[in-house]
Amino acid sequence: MKRLIKNGTIVTAADVYHADVLIEDGKIAAIGEHVSPHDAEIIDAKGCYVFPGGIDPHTHLDMPFGGTVTKDDFQSGTIAAAFGGTTTVIDFCLTNKGEPLAKAIETWHNKAKGKAVIDYGFHLMISEINDDVLSELPKVIEEEGITSFKVFMAYKNVFQADDGTLYRTLSAAKQLGALVMVHAENGDVIDYLTKQALAEGHTEPVYHALTRPPELEGEATGRACQLTQLADSQLYVVHVSCAQAVEKIAEARNKGLNVWGETCPQYLVLDQSYLEKPNFEGAKYVWSPPLREKWHQEVLWNALKNGQLQTLGSDQCSFDFKGQKELGRDDFTKIPNGGPIIEDRLSILFSEGVKKGRITLNQFVDITSTRIAKLFGLFPKKGTIAVGSDADLVIFDPNVERVISAETHHMAVDYNPFEGMKVAGEPISVLSRGEFVVRDKVFVGKPGYGQYLKREKYGKYAVLNENEKLTI
Ligand code: URP
Ligand code: ZN
Ligand code: ZN
Repeated sequence: MKRLIKNGTIVTAADVYHADVLIEDGKIAAIGEHVSPHDAEIIDAKGCYVFPGGIDPHTHLDMPFGGTVTKDDFQSGTIAAAFGGTTTVIDFCLTNKGEPLAKAIETWHNKAKGKAVIDYGFHLMISEINDDVLSELPKVIEEEGITSFKVFMAYKNVFQADDGTLYRTLSAAKQLGALVMVHAENGDVIDYLTKQALAEGHTEPVYHALTRPPELEGEATGRACQLTQLADSQLYVVHVSCAQAVEKIAEARNKGLNVWGETCPQYLVLDQSYLEKPNFEGAKYVWSPPLREKWHQEVLWNALKNGQLQTLGSDQCSFDFKGQKELGRDDFTKIPNGGPIIEDRLSILFSEGVKKGRITLNQFVDITSTRIAKLFGLFPKKGTIAVGSDADLVIFDPNVERVISAETHHMAVDYNPFEGMKVAGEPISVLSRGEFVVRDKVFVGKPGYGQYLKREKYGKYAVLNENEKLTI
């Protein structure tokens, strides 16, 4: 099947230009002004941008957490992602101590199989390092194509790993060609502060933020950077929320370390005051790290603009308000941590970033797609518009205005943290490997169409800013 996207403006991380895109057998077959095969279906993209499909490097679909399971699974989650212009997700595969990694990976394959409507890959959580884990890691990389490992420095007695585990994971990753991702908050001190707050009778949602101050994110980020330097390895800091963490990442990068930083839409446009909403509504905004005082937002925007932070993930981890967030009505530590963000990631960055002149169109594509593909071993199959790349494409109308609402979103949850927010720009049609998943704002995809992605090792395309340092 051939398709020709005509009259659109192609945007990549490097260029903005008018050209038509010919799709053949799921790949981009030609790009040019006079591509006109007689047997192709014509898709008119007049007045629209044509972006490479977004890649969400940070999702938690169908994940047990906080005494419950995230509401969006690989079906509803990837449908919502597609409506938002995302054509690939990389989800976190949880592991259990003492259990073979292969078993955890099989569990995650079973969650996704038959459900995903777009392509997907996995990161692997590392909670302990021992001989069994070390002997399995080469297989994880070579056979499963899982080339990124996640270490939690927080969630004491749940996911938290100690510094020795982080250091050994960094060393192993260096040897094997993987990227280590960290949730950087000081879990031990948070544990102390939360117990203290509860003992003083503070049970409301806002205490979630007050017991996880930004200093503890900055401290953990700095510690992870130091251990990365010692191990001569590579680090990706997920969901950066505050100035203190940005400062540590910038410092590490200035030293020439391979340290990368991701922020999320929620930290760019929402602030700590949302946790003070009455009638327990603040629970809708409980995630970790927490929302910060408003002044941090400008620091994050500047960091995206100047390259100190490089990517935007959603940290999609959705729970209903009713029945799930409500688990913590009498105790903020029992509110499941996370929010439904997967669908609005691109819209918010486009509207608040590009339209408001904070970042360029090329940066928008780099931050939501290209850089992620390069860091996580998917480039140039994914993350760009080039001959030979997968035809993962978003036809995006920059002039439509819409209001974000739980009434119209496609996530399976009963609220949207951005409820009522006006955004400019919307994906109209979304293609995955040349097939429509969303066409003229209607879902036409198929559960099970999404393919598992074995990813390349870290290093080939991960380049440190303009000073160019090619790794490995
Ligand atoms: O609150 C959050 N972020 N929930 C998801 C798990 C994590 O820490 O990424
Ligand atoms: Zn986290
Ligand atoms: Zn997360």
